[in-house]
Amino acid sequence: MTNIILLGPPGAGKGTQAGMLVEERNMIQLSTGDMLREAKDSGTEMGKIVADVMARGDLVTDEIVIGLIREKLQGDKAGGFIFDGFPRTLAQADALGELMAEQGETLDHVIELQVNDEVLVERIVGRAAEAVAAGGTARADDNAESLKIRLMAYYKQTSPLIGYYHAKGMLKGVDGLGTMDGVKADIAGVLDA
Ligand code: AP5
Repeated sequence: MTNIILLGPPGAGKGTQAGMLVEERNMIQLSTGDMLREAKDSGTEMGKIVADVMARGDLVTDEIVIGLIREKLQGDKAGGFIFDGFPRTLAQADALGELMAEQGETLDHVIELQVNDEVLVERIVGRAAEAVAAGGTARADDNAESLKIRLMAYYKQTSPLIGYYHAKGMLKGVDGLGTMDGVKADIAGVLDA
């Protein structure tokens, strides 16, 4: 069983690579973004609270996302967890360490997908255009204004995790600019080393 974090800015390919790992390695994807969107779409109280924050591109509170992860860690573990988009702050990283220890689990790798801003913007704009063409609407935060705030949140609040996990000897950088299969092969190289 392997537990990993996929770390990287919006559009780095975290969700794409997590999906491939689920299929090929029977791992469990824990995407806080997906969990929050589900809560929003199903109109729960929590969903109503986070909707505006997410649409704007800001981070929701640590308390909410840590609560979501705590619940999921008690479920099926299968081939291990892929944390996709969590942790995003130092407080979340500390909480994850504690939650994993409570479950008798360890974190094996933190894989940082490295993609420059120009490509991130291209990918998000491309995804929004595809979604509009296919169904008339895009993700509420896939627009130029929210993306700017999402990137700022990444550099200010999330990028300090690179140093945090590097100091723990867990960080592995992977070039996220290659093809999806190329990036997948590089991640496999880390997991199978
Ligand atoms: P979240 O859903 O996590 O969004 P994000 O981090 O902004 O990530 P994305 O889903 O946009 O990108 P990704 O890296 O997964 O890339 P993807 O594979 O989709 O979070 C949304 C919001 O929820 C946050 O802004 C915040 O408000 C809240 N939130 C979530 N977690 C939180 C937390 N822990 N704390 C606080 N708030 C939280 O790919 C993007 C596009 O690129 C796709 O079209 C894909 O097809 C394409 N693509 C992927 N890989 C490649 C490749 N190698 N080559 C070419 N195209 C590629």
